[in-house]
Amino acid sequence: MNYNIALVKGDGIGPEIVEGAVEVLKKVGEKYGHQFIFTEYLAGGCAYDKYGKPLPEETVEGCKNSDSVLLGAVGGPKWDNVPSDLRPEKALLGLRAALGLYTNLRPAKIYPALMGACTLRPDIVERGFDLVIVRELTGGIYFGERGRREGRYGEEAYDTEAYSVMEIERIARVAFETARKRRKNLISIDKANVLETSRLWRQTVNRIAEEYQDVEVSHMYVDNAAMQLVREPSRFDVAVTSNMFGDILSDEASQITGSIGLLPSASLGDSKCGMYEPIHGSAPDIAGTGKANPMATILSAAMMLRYSFDLSEEADCIENAVNAVLEEGFRTADIVGNSGAEPLSCKEMTAKIIERL
Ligand code: IPM
Ligand code: MG
Repeated sequence: MNYNIALVKGDGIGPEIVEGAVEVLKKVGEKYGHQFIFTEYLAGGCAYDKYGKPLPEETVEGCKNSDSVLLGAVGGPKWDNVPSDLRPEKALLGLRAALGLYTNLRPAKIYPALMGACTLRPDIVERGFDLVIVRELTGGIYFGERGRREGRYGEEAYDTEAYSVMEIERIARVAFETARKRRKNLISIDKANVLETSRLWRQTVNRIAEEYQDVEVSHMYVDNAAMQLVREPSRFDVAVTSNMFGDILSDEASQITGSIGLLPSASLGDSKCGMYEPIHGSAPDIAGTGKANPMATILSAAMMLRYSFDLSEEADCIENAVNAVLEEGFRTADIVGNSGAEPLSCKEMTAKIIERL
């Protein structure tokens, strides 16, 4: 089969890590007889520099017409002072909206080989954890009305959180379906003790729950969830939450795995075309030094094969290769911890993974 993949390398370490994933995909293609055709598009700070806007129409069109999108990362201090609606991050939000990607799956699990890199107490780490955050991605405060106005105390700024029943229903269904394929436990995270959107969220999740009697559902306030994630991560199987809560909790979940450099994500909508990206940012401090960890992007490519192309054997092959290099003790700088290993560069790590495919 032929698959058209749009590459949005972005800024900072984006190009290095996407290159790593492309090499891996090429090797998988050779092994299993698929052809992956890559087309590059600019988005983020690099697009702003070239076109004066972070998300050119050509990029949106190219991504829409592809079978899937592989994205590196966007942003960096270089663009800190550009007008807010031209910021590199706008490209990411714009792509999510334009492609209708309302679901963001962010799995986080502890690799036995990396238990030493985890920041939690050993007795907590030993119990292990394997969870998925299902984050709503095209609604809530990220896309609500915002602005500046004259308020009671002079100039003020506001951002609004709004969720429709339809938006909550569709993300809840994805979460229940995800839980059904796993340990059948769903925790819905909100702030229903304060927010009206959260009360609607909770009510809607409970209604959809009636369709999924086999899944055990419970609710947790977001502040408590933030605490439980570091106290007892093993109690989470699938967690569903709003755009902003999901943004925050997924960084927290990634840190307890040992490194944010390991976590992939999939952004999905109603069609097969998804966008796959590491959950980490563009790490401008290490861009160009070769220190970046390509694993999160390589694992994102595996998710692409699994979710958009239904190539689960090929996806397993990539995930097993990443597991194998970790088991063998190979490390990039971010996960070297006190292992005593000599850190590998992004290219070296990619090569190790490719050898094991
Ligand atoms: C993420 C990022 C983005 C977000 C930023 C870069 C806009 O933090 O994908 O988690 O907040 O969604
Ligand atoms: Mg984030």
